[in-house]
Amino acid sequence: MSNVAIIGAQWGDEGKGKIVDLFTHDADIIVRFQGGNNAGHTLVVNGKKTVLHLVPSGALHGDKLCVIGNGVVVDPEILIEEIDALKAQGHLQSDAQLRISEQAHVIMPYHKAIDLARERLRGKGKIGTTGRGIGPAYEDKVARVGIRFVDLLEEDTFREKLERNIEEKNFYLKAILQEKALDFAEIHDNYGRYRDKLKGYVTNTGLLLDQRIRAGKRVLFEGAQGTLLDVDHGTYPYVTSSSTVTGGACSGSGVGPQHIQQVIGISKAYTTRVGSGPFPTELDGPDGETLRREGAEFGATTGRSRRCGWFDAVTVRHAVRMNGLTGVALTKLDVLTGFKKIPICTAYRFNGQTVDEFPASSKVMAGAQPVYEEMDGWDERLDDVRKFSDLPATVRKYVKRIEEVIGTEIILVSVGPGREQTIVLRNPFDR
Ligand code: GDP
Ligand code: IMO
Ligand code: MG
Repeated sequence: MSNVAIIGAQWGDEGKGKIVDLFTHDADIIVRFQGGNNAGHTLVVNGKKTVLHLVPSGALHGDKLCVIGNGVVVDPEILIEEIDALKAQGHLQSDAQLRISEQAHVIMPYHKAIDLARERLRGKGKIGTTGRGIGPAYEDKVARVGIRFVDLLEEDTFREKLERNIEEKNFYLKAILQEKALDFAEIHDNYGRYRDKLKGYVTNTGLLLDQRIRAGKRVLFEGAQGTLLDVDHGTYPYVTSSSTVTGGACSGSGVGPQHIQQVIGISKAYTTRVGSGPFPTELDGPDGETLRREGAEFGATTGRSRRCGWFDAVTVRHAVRMNGLTGVALTKLDVLTGFKKIPICTAYRFNGQTVDEFPASSKVMAGAQPVYEEMDGWDERLDDVRKFSDLPATVRKYVKRIEEVIGTEIILVSVGPGREQTIVLRNPFDR
């Protein structure tokens, strides 16, 4: 019996939400372990679209436990809005369905103010963050001045930490970032209200997960962002501020690695990226425009248009290795319908040299010229296909070639946003 981690294998938005929702059927507990409301995970069930930012993508199944682990940074205002919206739609009817780690860090108004101000000052060199305060919240965690849920719950601890932080952050905001100072009393009152609304969900989630796993319950770990946005293994500094890889699932949920048996990477059949940073297979012309239009490539969190390009095997191979992927789910195959030829990038060229492995240097990544192998395209619509053998031969050849160049089994192909628009070749919970 397996526990499974679902990890983004590219720059995020690969369709993790859809696949997590699908496999929630086979799990008992769904855990978010990093990131915050920079994530936007889209679920389409019976034609109805739901976008989740903080609550795990298992929330549409009535009988599953959703856990926000210690590695997540939580904006309580956004979480409350999300819980209320889910409840209004008939989900999360029992409060026992959601648990928040007492060690998860709380995003504060100064984190958002600093994030936005820094981006403004960076001008052209901006990272293109989601502006949700994610980076500054993780900075405070590592600087050991962050406020955790357990601190928020203790009125005196919270007051003391907030007083100290506000003094320092206001100095930084005013003197360095030329921003307005924030008001202690207002923040203190607002966060007091958030405390009252959320305290019933807060607990020792590491212990809870251990107890449930020992009792034979099955856990699905839901990654946010993607491997190339990982703070260590991504396109630094154009990354997010957390460990998005499988290792992060352990530290971010308090569960040992022996409890994760299967790791499924989610990858689009092409590539997208939101925000700044190198992207070797990016298409600036009409093909990129077609991918954006056909794939509806607009951010689920910020609404920004996503940059689009061909499938990049160099980066996905990196994700296979970094995460120890045991399989890959290939999404949005339907979007490629209509292209005469579909290139796959198998390596890069830089300074006359062939580069097969993901380079750490931003300069190499920014100057990397993709080496393409051209596959035949197809004209058939795929969104109604439910069996792999019913896919046109050219499509099957494309999938099989991707499987070869990334050296990993493709366990699923997705042919539309709907839960049912999926061809499962192997269920990772079966191993
Ligand atoms: P996530 O952040 O990885 O959960 O992905 P997002 O939800 O941000 O972005 C993926 C988008 O693609 C969403 O709008 C999904 O509804 C949609 N999607 C997922 N799988 C497919 C697919 O196979 N085909 C198409 N056309 N859309 C898909
Ligand atoms: P999901 O979970 C795609 C990107 C931002 C920016 C960089 C840093 O939906 O796949 P941050 O606000 O995290 O400091 O921004 O990371 N980014 C994402 N891109 N999908 C996401 O999440 C992302 N979360 C952050 O666009 O380039
Ligand atoms: Mg997303």
